[in-house]
Amino acid sequence: MNAARQGIPGLQAGEDVKSFQASLDLGLAEEPAGPDPTAGVALVDGLPQLAQVGEPKGVVYTRPWVVDLILDLAGYRPEDDLAAHYAVEPSVGNGAFLVPMVRRLMASLSAHGRDIGDAQPALRAYELDRDAAVRATGLVVQELRQHGIGKTQAQDLAQGWVGVGDYLLASPHDRQADLVVGNPPYIRYDDLPAKALAAYRRLYPAMVGRCDIYVGFIEAGLRQLKTGGILAFICADRWMRSAYGAELRRMISAAFGVEAVIEMHDAAAFEDEVAAYPAVIVIRRAGQGQALVASAGPGAGTPMAGITLADAVSGLARGQVTEVPGFTATTVGRWFRGTSPWPALEPRKLPLLQGLEERFAPLEDENTGTKIGIGVATGADRVFITTDADLVESDRLLPLAMSADTRQGTLQWSGHYLVDPWARGGGLVDLATYPQLRRYLERHKNELQRRNIAQRIPRDWYRTIDRVHHELSQQPKLYFPDMKLVSNPVVDRGGTYPHHNLYYLTSKGWDLGACSPPIDKMLSMRRQ
Ligand SMILES: C[S@@+](CC[C@H](N)C(=O)[O-])C[C@H]1O[C@@H](n2cnc3c(N)ncnc32)[C@H](O)[C@@H]1O
Repeated sequence: MNAARQGIPGLQAGEDVKSFQASLDLGLAEEPAGPDPTAGVALVDGLPQLAQVGEPKGVVYTRPWVVDLILDLAGYRPEDDLAAHYAVEPSVGNGAFLVPMVRRLMASLSAHGRDIGDAQPALRAYELDRDAAVRATGLVVQELRQHGIGKTQAQDLAQGWVGVGDYLLASPHDRQADLVVGNPPYIRYDDLPAKALAAYRRLYPAMVGRCDIYVGFIEAGLRQLKTGGILAFICADRWMRSAYGAELRRMISAAFGVEAVIEMHDAAAFEDEVAAYPAVIVIRRAGQGQALVASAGPGAGTPMAGITLADAVSGLARGQVTEVPGFTATTVGRWFRGTSPWPALEPRKLPLLQGLEERFAPLEDENTGTKIGIGVATGADRVFITTDADLVESDRLLPLAMSADTRQGTLQWSGHYLVDPWARGGGLVDLATYPQLRRYLERHKNELQRRNIAQRIPRDWYRTIDRVHHELSQQPKLYFPDMKLVSNPVVDRGGTYPHHNLYYLTSKGWDLGACSPPIDKMLSMRRQ
């Protein structure tokens, strides 16, 4: 059953998902392939909902200071005629955003001499969980009553605004919005029911790889914006750098402008303590202009006299305010293009990085034959890594460079070997031709078979997760240990193979050996 044909509140006559999505030229698939993803779903209060979604998950409520910051940054302020704007809260929860929005709307009505009836078409909120929706509706009624609205009218308004249903399925049928604002749910890829994920993916082409549901919410919110409209979310920020966020970044770069990114990993943004690694994002359906980049630490949220936090942080970024407790901020003149990751940097370092990006070519470069890779992951280091040079046949032992071997500033091989099951020409070696290797691996067969990779390809139970490319051992390369605050590259002139917590750089054009003395010198200077 097509939800649109069932008369969903908010659906504009003649508007459907295809024309809505086709109205965006984002360099993505323009319309969802396959059957209507909302076919066969239940309608709850006139809104679509996948019965299989089950218990609501990803419920983290936002603190009032963050809500006010976001609403102010998004320009949802009572001075403006808010009744003339259409604002959507896609996942209302306990009304952390909706109630302050109603408060601002009421203030705006009186500031603009408007009638309460004008407020009705100005808001829409979605919630999958009926109990949460009922609670939010009650809080909205309470808020309206405080503004002198009669009980029946308050209930009618609140019930008209809050709908029980799935925003991802319903939003393509909703009107285009001036503002989509809130805190979307976080539900990891593995926890999303297959049927729901398939339906979402058909509607939202940026939901690639092992993406979390919030990627769909960002895409849906952006698609719902009218020209000049704003999406303002607090949301986990992994998508800004991960592979599964690449299509979303491409979409934003193609048709939207990033106005603000405020990292809040260490700020008290939510009512409960959760490791959500959130950031506030403000994105407008318009070209890219200047962007505010800020970071909020544990002291953030302290009210400031005579100025909103949003204005204070914007002032800090432009150098007009000297201090905002808990915040650092800057502005940048341009944003990252295409699928490029949005780096996680202390804001003041961002302009420097952007300057370097403008002046220099990327490290990985076809012209100089420069490549970056990461070393071999085994899935069972205890079995595949040894210091015993007699453990198996000698041509099955590959000198392995480990992260600790780079600590002195030059490569100091620690005598570790990879027990190498790979043949030189590709594929695994035939164990019958290597009796010592066979005996050793068979002794550990149970452990090796328990690994994911072995369960997916049982015949290859003795493979390492990654293949070994033997030619890499002989090549000169730079090693960079993983997860370091300071990068200390060391040169391997050819002789070792990297373990998986070492990145390596090889190049046809660069003389990597020549990098060695300056790096050694730099390191010894650092140690003095
Ligand atoms: C992270 S909470 C945020 C609640 C509120 N906006 C806030 O900021 O405090 C997300 C809410 O989304 C709801 N939710 C989950 N999936 C949804 C969906 N597909 N459509 C609408 N709401 C959904 C959850 O029930 C939960 O209440």
